[in-house]
Amino acid sequence: MAKQLLGSALVGCGSATPKQSLTNAQLGQRVDTNDSWIRSRTGIASRCVLGSDESLVELSHMASAKALKMAGWEPGSVDLIVMATSTPDDLFGSAPQVQSLLGANNAFAFDLTAACSGFLFALVTATQFLKSGSIKRALVIGADQLSRWVDWDDRRTCVLFGDGAGAVALEAVDQKDEGLIDFSLKSDGSRGDSLQLRQVIKHLPLVDGTTHQQGGFTSIEMNGQEVYKFAVREVPSVLAELLKRNNVIAEELDWLLLHQANQRILDAVADRFQVPHHKVLTNLQSYGNTSAATIPLMLDEAVRDGRVKPGDLIATSGFGAGLSWGAALINWHGPS
Ligand code: ACO
Repeated sequence: MAKQLLGSALVGCGSATPKQSLTNAQLGQRVDTNDSWIRSRTGIASRCVLGSDESLVELSHMASAKALKMAGWEPGSVDLIVMATSTPDDLFGSAPQVQSLLGANNAFAFDLTAACSGFLFALVTATQFLKSGSIKRALVIGADQLSRWVDWDDRRTCVLFGDGAGAVALEAVDQKDEGLIDFSLKSDGSRGDSLQLRQVIKHLPLVDGTTHQQGGFTSIEMNGQEVYKFAVREVPSVLAELLKRNNVIAEELDWLLLHQANQRILDAVADRFQVPHHKVLTNLQSYGNTSAATIPLMLDEAVRDGRVKPGDLIATSGFGAGLSWGAALINWHGPS
């Protein structure tokens, strides 16, 4: 039986975004919208959209390769790859394709779906493997291509989303309070219809009076106001639960790293905890909501520009379709 370990240090990160960036004014050429409406309601100024010569697997590979490089790991030393995505290139799973491109030949790899909370759910999942002592090194990817499933003629949704990928390298360590310190994850399927990417099924004849179902999907359908109310109620609640359980007061946090859905949601949560806005990491103005990618994309930017430093205490929270949400207290270790 493998020896249980106490922590999982975050020792590397990386991210990648598509080459094409679309401004609000450009979207105004397609739907009846404008820069001032989008900026004032969401904080978004532009978003990246995968072009015809790019793919989500390639983006995930680029982000992962950067995380491995920062961590100083050989691809063959990775034991596990968890790819959080709701928009895989292959419904059977895209993580094995990333594993193959990386040359991480000793890793087992699988996809995990929890919409915009996906990265957080994947981080927790990988950490359980690491702490069990069964593996030493894991790569956690958050990647989504919502542009593939948006109705580009629906101004209520198409302005909000973008594509991207981010990754973190996690190493099992025998120190408590390292990496993922504590977490709380939640789901409520009864409210799932406020944000969906539903299956549309055709019932077709097979043989001898039997039928089969042929699958396909709708575009993203969202009740924006319901999702907004859900986020500003549940995110502070789950964060408060986590801080209290760990005897951490908001002033002790170095950073608040929330799912980048809407600047107004970020501001409301920060105000609830009286966290000054300069401690709230935000880059949604350039990328919009990249779903499972927002948290690692933001973390990577802040690590590389020197804002997040080794030992920094970060409260993070993801929320989105499912409905799913959660929070985690993490500290950034950086390369050894
Ligand atoms: N440009 C111009 N006008 C618009 C646009 C647009 N892009 N979109 C909507 N409008 C109009 C509406 O038609 C409406 O007009 P009307 O009053 O004539 O009917 C008006 O603006 C107000 O619309 P609301 O939907 O009430 O606008 P609201 O202030 O609620 O903002 C928004 C909408 C930005 C979507 C907000 O509700 C929100 O951010 N919700 C949370 C969404 C979110 O975070 N989703 C992602 C979750 S994560 C995941 O799992 C993918």
